[in-house]
Amino acid sequence: MLENKTVILGVSGGIAVYKAVELLRLLTKAGATVHVVMSKNAQEFVTPLTFQTLSGNPVHTELFNLYQEQEIGHISLADRADLFILAPATANLIGKIANGLADDLLSTSVMATKAPVLVVPAMNSNMYENPLYQQNEKKLAEAGYQVMEPATGELACGWLGKGKLPEPELIFAAADAMLTAKDLSGCRVLVTAGPTREELDPIRYLTNYSSGKMGYAVAAAAAARGASVTLVSGPTSLQTPYGVEVVPVRSAEQMRAAVLECFAESDVVIKAAAVADYRPARRGENKIKKTADEMTIELEKNPDILSELGTRKQEQVLVGFAAETESLLVHATEKLQKKGLDMIVANDVTAEGAGFDVDTNLVRFLFADGKVEELDLMRKEQVANRLLDQVAELWQAKRQ
Ligand code: CTP
Repeated sequence: MLENKTVILGVSGGIAVYKAVELLRLLTKAGATVHVVMSKNAQEFVTPLTFQTLSGNPVHTELFNLYQEQEIGHISLADRADLFILAPATANLIGKIANGLADDLLSTSVMATKAPVLVVPAMNSNMYENPLYQQNEKKLAEAGYQVMEPATGELACGWLGKGKLPEPELIFAAADAMLTAKDLSGCRVLVTAGPTREELDPIRYLTNYSSGKMGYAVAAAAAARGASVTLVSGPTSLQTPYGVEVVPVRSAEQMRAAVLECFAESDVVIKAAAVADYRPARRGENKIKKTADEMTIELEKNPDILSELGTRKQEQVLVGFAAETESLLVHATEKLQKKGLDMIVANDVTAEGAGFDVDTNLVRFLFADGKVEELDLMRKEQVANRLLDQVAELWQAKRQ
């Protein structure tokens, strides 16, 4: 929950500084006020003007600068932070903090803050593996700093290994999670998302327009609220959300198998996936050749995963989605009852700004006790959190 929060973004010198620019953009877009502190070396990679323009605030670079200290001194900078993010954090910066050294504005401000600190290391993989560096990183973690694991891949120096700065979206999600109340802590949430693909032959399949955005938003928000989250996902182009375990599947049958495997161990199941109701009755071993002028594809029914969960459920909270194009409430109520759900998210996918492959949604929540909550048009991330507010209540009620 970064809206209206004050974030200090500390940037130290490394090629990944350019990614901190994107992180800053995400933070301000989420409604945070961001003050950037740059080390001397960071300014060799990107100028302070870039960060200043995007943050709308003066960039802080020097400890002994009378003008900057008068505007907002380093102690008050550290004081006003709700969150401190160090990205990228070099081995040098981490080494200094771990050993209590404060010799420039950035290290001094981090030492002086009482706010939670997210440290995002980025460096050459050999430096990362160096036991001295590892000791320093461990010290930070033990002192309560949250340290993110670097990504693995091709590094700027040409090496292939661990040490890359994670993608800005992931750093943003980790930061957001640090300021989010953990009302789902201890709750095991199973989410399904995306479309399923029903193969016709090795190169063709039947599917639908689902992008997976709604289910991924629910999984990400649940993880930020402290739940342990498994996301069974049909094929999408979306990034794995921070802190979420993804089980990739393609067909409805594969989704069913993956869901049933996790079901007994879940407290909450949220089925946002757009499961194909039918699949081709026969799958061609080889590419189907173009021969006759007409062709008929025979379909057979897929298992209804949610209905099956409804019959098996013990104490689980079961949440379904109903994507409709007409008679929304009638169809959604019918599904809620027929599938044995605690709650259903009903949306008219033909409404402006709602449904598949857009970033917003217009939904109503229907409950087993007949209660209905109608939401305004909002971003899918916001819908996800409103949904989880309800889920948290249902889960707590079942625990008592
Ligand atoms: N669902 C499921 N397995 C299926 C079909 C749907 O688990 N084979 C789940 C979806 O994930 C969703 C809910 O059931 O949470 C409703 O899906 P929807 O496609 O709206 O409804 P259907 O039951 O398939 O009915 P219809 O297609 O006739 O509207």
